[in-house]
Amino acid sequence: MKNSFTRICDLSNFVDKEVILAGWLYKGRSSGKVQFLVLRDGTGLCQCVIEKGNVPDGLFEQLKHLGQESSLTITGTVRADERSVGGYELAVTNAQIISPADGYPITPKSHGIDFLLKHRHLHFRSQRQWCIGKIRHTVIDAIRRFFNDNGFILIDTPILTATAGEEEQTLFEVDYFGSPLYLTQTGQLHLESAAMSFGKVYCFGPTFRAERSKTRRHLTEFWMVEPEVAFIDLDGLLELAENFVSFIVAQVLQNNKNELVTLEADIASLKNIKPPFYRLTYTEVVNILTSRKTRDFLAGQLKELQDQKQQLEARIGELETQQAGQIKQWQKDKITAELIELRTALAETDTKIENNPKHAELAHRFRWGKDLGGSDETIISQMHDKPVFVTHYPKQAKAFYMKADGDNEKVVLNFDLLAPAGFGEIIGGSMREDDHDLLVARIGEQGLAVENYEWYLDLRKYGSVPHGGFGLGVERTIAWLTAQKHIRQCIPFPRMMDKVYI
Ligand code: 4AD
Repeated sequence: MKNSFTRICDLSNFVDKEVILAGWLYKGRSSGKVQFLVLRDGTGLCQCVIEKGNVPDGLFEQLKHLGQESSLTITGTVRADERSVGGYELAVTNAQIISPADGYPITPKSHGIDFLLKHRHLHFRSQRQWCIGKIRHTVIDAIRRFFNDNGFILIDTPILTATAGEEEQTLFEVDYFGSPLYLTQTGQLHLESAAMSFGKVYCFGPTFRAERSKTRRHLTEFWMVEPEVAFIDLDGLLELAENFVSFIVAQVLQNNKNELVTLEADIASLKNIKPPFYRLTYTEVVNILTSRKTRDFLAGQLKELQDQKQQLEARIGELETQQAGQIKQWQKDKITAELIELRTALAETDTKIENNPKHAELAHRFRWGKDLGGSDETIISQMHDKPVFVTHYPKQAKAFYMKADGDNEKVVLNFDLLAPAGFGEIIGGSMREDDHDLLVARIGEQGLAVENYEWYLDLRKYGSVPHGGFGLGVERTIAWLTAQKHIRQCIPFPRMMDKVYI
């Protein structure tokens, strides 16, 4: 079939003209002599209006009973109509059913997340997943564009590696012809070698971590982009990171306004994402976490959550009463859908209410030296309206390759970038230890086998220079931009510790 169909996203060029659209039936309703079919073609939605008499009678009847997600082509004249989804509609003169679908499992009413993950292959077609998919496309395009336009060379680092780049506990082992190899946790170490050849490089690919945590921020397979730069310092890295993140946000705002609106993302806050971001040292963060200000902040949050809970319970009660009364089936279905959403929101609020005192306690008791936990990051990120750099973590809490601060050997020249409004860490980065002997000592201190890092140590023998870089997690960034609670929605086929569905 030659693709000579008009795309729904191009309809503005065809007003008053006849076009043929090809797609899937998103939803339909009929009011006797007129049918309204909403067609989905991958580029948008278009309401197609079919008046009895304008198409053959037999076809009119067939279309009336056509199931959701049936595939078809529809011929008609384009009309501008502000009230219509997408701003245009089609006055239908003909249609051809390609493949009728019956009993499509994902109906417009709400489904639980487990059900949707099991049906991911179909759930892709839903408006929300479609919007997230489009934004993911923009984010990935912006990532490549930013580095390509700023003099970085793309280096494809290996997926199968012989050594740990991050914590050894999260390595996935692979049997490589009888010997163990690992799925890469980061391209960083190989990228450092490339930085000594090209100066500014980046790698971009899937990375793997056998994370034993089932949190909303962890996947076992996720995409990470990592730049690495020779002759840079920590300030230079922070500047690079804030320009990079601001560029991604600007591209999404420019290209995906409609998708952001559909997803109810916080567009006003995203417009505020411009350099400079906040800069705090780890030690300052510890002081904030253990302060009165944080205790008051969390107490205020608890009060808000309790109010929210009361409102949700009241609304649920109202709807349950309505549902028990004499109402039509479609009204019952509508209420059922709303109830599913409200009960999910109530369960989430309950969890937050339960966690609030625990998180307050953890923050209050936080002692210098530990890595920040997820809840600590959430608190700091909730207290800020722009991303926050947290720098200079204790050496003991961080990876072997991070360079110690010459002014204070207890801390390293590193940073995490926390996205605002509670989303937490999206970037981790650092200056790298460039002194051969200090690096050997750090490898030993962390109980790693020095012989596995001979090649990496060579980089410190032959023209070592100050260098550093960072890694940005694509799914976490998308979750922040699209206001998704869980990053599993931000990758086409999520892999999590407890489940791989499809
Ligand atoms: O902080 P991380 O572990 O840093 C590194 O891997 C460095 N080697 C990067 C570098 O300096 N070149 O991970 C970087 C980012 C995190 O900030 C987070 O966004 C994401 O990768 N990330 C994960 N995303 C989803 N699921 C997981 N399990 C993740 N672990 C890290």
